[in-house]
Amino acid sequence: MKVTGMQPNQIRLSIPEGYLAFLANLPWDHRLEDWNRHKVRFVPVKSGLSRHIVRFVESNGHSFAIKETTAESALKELANYHHLKELEIPTLHPVGVVERDDGTLRVETPIGEQIDQNSTAYLITEVMEKVIPDSHLFRRSFTLKSRQRIWDAVIHLFISLHSAGVYWGDASLANMLVRFTTERIPEMGSRTKLAAILADAETVEIHPSISDRMRLSEIEFFLESMLWTEADLKASGIVRDPMMTREDSDYILTHYNERFALGQEMRSFELVTRIDVDRMLGMVDVKGYGTLLLKHINEHKWYLSEKGGKEVPLVESAHDWYNEVFKPVCRILTGHGMGTLFPDKTASTLYVEIMEHKYLMSERQKGDVGLVAALEDYLGKFGKQQLAGISIPSLVRALTSFFTRPQPPVQNSYLP
Ligand SMILES: Nc1ncnc2c1ncn2[C@@H]1O[C@H](COP(=O)(O)OP(=O)(O)O)[C@@H](O)[C@H]1O
Ligand SMILES: [Mg+2]
Repeated sequence: MKVTGMQPNQIRLSIPEGYLAFLANLPWDHRLEDWNRHKVRFVPVKSGLSRHIVRFVESNGHSFAIKETTAESALKELANYHHLKELEIPTLHPVGVVERDDGTLRVETPIGEQIDQNSTAYLITEVMEKVIPDSHLFRRSFTLKSRQRIWDAVIHLFISLHSAGVYWGDASLANMLVRFTTERIPEMGSRTKLAAILADAETVEIHPSISDRMRLSEIEFFLESMLWTEADLKASGIVRDPMMTREDSDYILTHYNERFALGQEMRSFELVTRIDVDRMLGMVDVKGYGTLLLKHINEHKWYLSEKGGKEVPLVESAHDWYNEVFKPVCRILTGHGMGTLFPDKTASTLYVEIMEHKYLMSERQKGDVGLVAALEDYLGKFGKQQLAGISIPSLVRALTSFFTRPQPPVQNSYLP
């Protein structure tokens, strides 16, 4: 039997040029567990439980994670990481693969002796910095509120995967990294939030879309995996209290389902308006807000069509609304400290809520209540101290003068 492939001990590096200087001189002809005998500088990284041997090394100021596996697995996982990156899913930065031929193996089988190629491969990724270790994530007596911030990050990762047609197949806390990231909120600046990153892409499958059954089985798998993650962390003395109570799993399921439905609503909003929600509006986090925004856009379309004496297409109206109404209003709101007062809201959420508040109040009182009353009522839930940095009269003046410009952009029920 002829065995083709690499020569014994031959090493094949599939690494981009820019990384070669850091990686070419590592002892690829030795097993990873023996690298400590070969002057390799290791970096201390807290990693999740793993089946494979994973080591973190430093070379010329760069840190890499190296996983020892088979060529088939390493190449598949590398391709998965590249694909996930293209889909803008938060994941590790893939670097490359190193394969080593370990000679041939004679295997006795019932039909005679077989010769198998014996090879090892290394998957290389960049070490993800500033990751919060599990021991900090689930400190003793962590409040439900702080745990929910972690669940929100986990749910966000699942939503990005599932709405892009990705089935992970191995979802667990051990395969995620959680860290603080800076999120840019359109029209409101940026804020820090927790984000979960996919850190084991071996089993990832990418489809045009995935079924509801697959999505839900993934969430169930994750919830089950928390039981063994908890057992593992308890065994190592890291956590003592349950990490996942009934309240936690209900929170994850409910919020995941809500966010997924909301995601679908926003995708259809994007289809008809061609407004990139994440980049232009920021996360819209309440079901029904997509429909409300579309209502505003349709009213704007009506106004533009009346003014121009001809039908203006929806996409054109949507972009006109975005530049001429949405952005200026958000700028007024943030310019008057509303972003600081509502640190959890995006500009689009604030925009919808204030306009909607006025609309509902007017409906209740069977007459236009005006923006001043609506804003005061909306802000009424805050104490005087919290409102100290906000001058309501000047905010109202700015909004009123915007909406009553000589050429008002919108002629509809939302006017002050
Ligand atoms: N680039 C990286 N940066 C930081 N941590 C990493 C990186 N790559 C892997 N890890 C950690 O090492 C763990 C083990 O790697 P993983 O790919 O999950 O191995 P296995 O396939 O054996 O489960 C991961 O769950 C993660 O915690
Ligand atoms: Mg893993």
